[in-house]
Amino acid sequence: MNTTPTVHPVDPAFAADARITREQYQRLYAGSLEQPEAFWGRIGERLDWMTPPTVIKDTSFDLHDFRIRWYADGELNAAANCLDRHLAERGDKTAIIFEPDSPDAPAQHISYRELHARTCQAANALRALGVRKGDRVTIYLPMIPEAVVSMLACARIGAVHSVVFGGFAASSIADRVADCGSKLIITADEGRRGGRGVPLKANVDAALKLPGTNSVETVLVVRHSGAAVDMQMPRDRWFDAVVDSQPVECEPERMNAEDPLFILYTSGSTGKPKGVLHTTAGYLVYCAYTHEAVFDLREDDVYWCTADIGWVTGHSYIVYGPLANGATALVFEGVPTWPDSARFWQVIDKHAVTIFYTAPTAIRALMREGDEPVKSTSRGSLRLLGSVGEPINPEAWRWYFEVVGGSRCPVVDTWWQTETGGIMISPLPGAMDLKPGSATRPFFGVQPALVDPAGRVLEGEAEGNLVITDSWPGQMRTVYGDHQRFIDTYFRTYPGNYFSGDGCRRDADGDYWITGRVDDVINVSGHRIGTAEVESALVSHPKVAEAAVVGFPHDVKGQGIYAYVTLVAGEASSDGLRDELVRHVRAQIGPIATPDHLQWAPGLPKTRSGKIMRRILRKIAENATDQLGDTSTLADPSVVESLVRDRRVP
Ligand code: WT7
Repeated sequence: MNTTPTVHPVDPAFAADARITREQYQRLYAGSLEQPEAFWGRIGERLDWMTPPTVIKDTSFDLHDFRIRWYADGELNAAANCLDRHLAERGDKTAIIFEPDSPDAPAQHISYRELHARTCQAANALRALGVRKGDRVTIYLPMIPEAVVSMLACARIGAVHSVVFGGFAASSIADRVADCGSKLIITADEGRRGGRGVPLKANVDAALKLPGTNSVETVLVVRHSGAAVDMQMPRDRWFDAVVDSQPVECEPERMNAEDPLFILYTSGSTGKPKGVLHTTAGYLVYCAYTHEAVFDLREDDVYWCTADIGWVTGHSYIVYGPLANGATALVFEGVPTWPDSARFWQVIDKHAVTIFYTAPTAIRALMREGDEPVKSTSRGSLRLLGSVGEPINPEAWRWYFEVVGGSRCPVVDTWWQTETGGIMISPLPGAMDLKPGSATRPFFGVQPALVDPAGRVLEGEAEGNLVITDSWPGQMRTVYGDHQRFIDTYFRTYPGNYFSGDGCRRDADGDYWITGRVDDVINVSGHRIGTAEVESALVSHPKVAEAAVVGFPHDVKGQGIYAYVTLVAGEASSDGLRDELVRHVRAQIGPIATPDHLQWAPGLPKTRSGKIMRRILRKIAENATDQLGDTSTLADPSVVESLVRDRRVP
């Protein structure tokens, strides 16, 4: 992107009424860096504390004195902050609008009072089943109100939830259950997506047959689709049978600010997924405040984030941020393209959605269907649009702005990560000029820097690796069960800094443009897939000797998965085997990890020391075979020629 970008100046009408104007941003941002204690102390007052904190920021990225503690002597309960404190003034306000998969099924409006009651009942049920403060609970549910209720019920009793995305297969569930030693799993008979059933309970049954999962004592099953499932007594219990008879009040557990709130597994460049651990106060302050500021939240907004609660976006910007702010949040079970590709826009009209937050991959998929489905709807209620999960290409940005938002609604392109807990770089809609494709400026308290591979800080207009130089309240505190891995992954590459794993450019105006991952993580439709995970799924097949996986540019998904596979000696390649291997990966990890292309590789390009040269494999997958660069260090340069010749033309 070296051409001059289009600039959309702050809309004066929006700015006139905005929570944060340009002048306020500049003043508050400077203050947030100069006096972080004063700044975050004041922001922390938005929560209800059982014991107000006196120590606000106690952090150091110095490896000899490493610590990240926010509001460290405060006590609070996250669920009480999302529910109880709204009861007096907002008890009858809708907390959750539930829009089911089928447009023919009735939507539900759940008030703060009702959500409080249902959460208390679920919390009492968990306690009755022996779940205590600090115990881990795995949640494997579709996008239904019980997902929100279950998360908040855990938070209420101090149990640590680990939500596993409903698209993950049995062995991915098993890995995550085993890693954190969950005592209880909450699932449903089935999920519903695009008119089809997703066999959640059957996946849990299969997962619990795998080694390492005997910590699980109870499986609570929400009756959702009504499909018949195997119930293995006494392990399996119907959610309604255990929950509905419980009292509607439940004393919230007193939690220290730094007590764990949840674990969420995410892929890295090596090894198995990491259990990203977030704690209570800093996370809640950060996601609530970013939600209010970035989305310019108003009391009467109807806010819709299309993410799944299985990802951090769902945690921070469907559940904790919006509910801590007393907002009305829409929970959508379905998919953008069923029954037809106007579904999103129909739901916006049906519920008069004012703020809409989705991913570039969905925008690109819908853009392909043309303007007609969008224009068949009004969308007159919309006032703000958001994007998250991957870089948004300027064409998609423009279509989103012009066609979806009718050129009336600012687009906030929000850069952040599972690890950051909340939005880090994003326009504030009343304060920043917008540039299609740029996440623009850092949020309050966030200090980004660009460094070269040697760690030298780059000033002014530059491109490099994106680091954050000081702590912010929402950041993850550790990798569950492996603090060393936390330090090594994020703080050792550029000592004294948090390394994001992303590349980034800063333009002459000081605006940031995220260019994508610089490590071996592929961003497929806004979901992180570690190349190492797909490789180990492939080599777990008896006919596979070796595999190397890379990302390649994909029109809709952003990046696709390209796998190179070497078979064990004597095995013959065939289209049938290719299909079998693709199915094998889906069964091992889940449909999101499905390879788009699988190329037979008689050999892989390796250095003389045996290291696979992924740079070359990436170039072949991208069809940039004129840019293979120096291949002279390869042990056997001829493998490259054969790979180029046999490339799977997409
Ligand atoms: C990675 C984090 C943040 C919630 C969803 C994904 C990429 C995320 C943007 C954006 C460019 C983005 C980065 C980041 N990413 N948002 N607005 N522009 N890239 O969370 O699964 O932890 O993935 O998503 O590469 O590192 P995640």
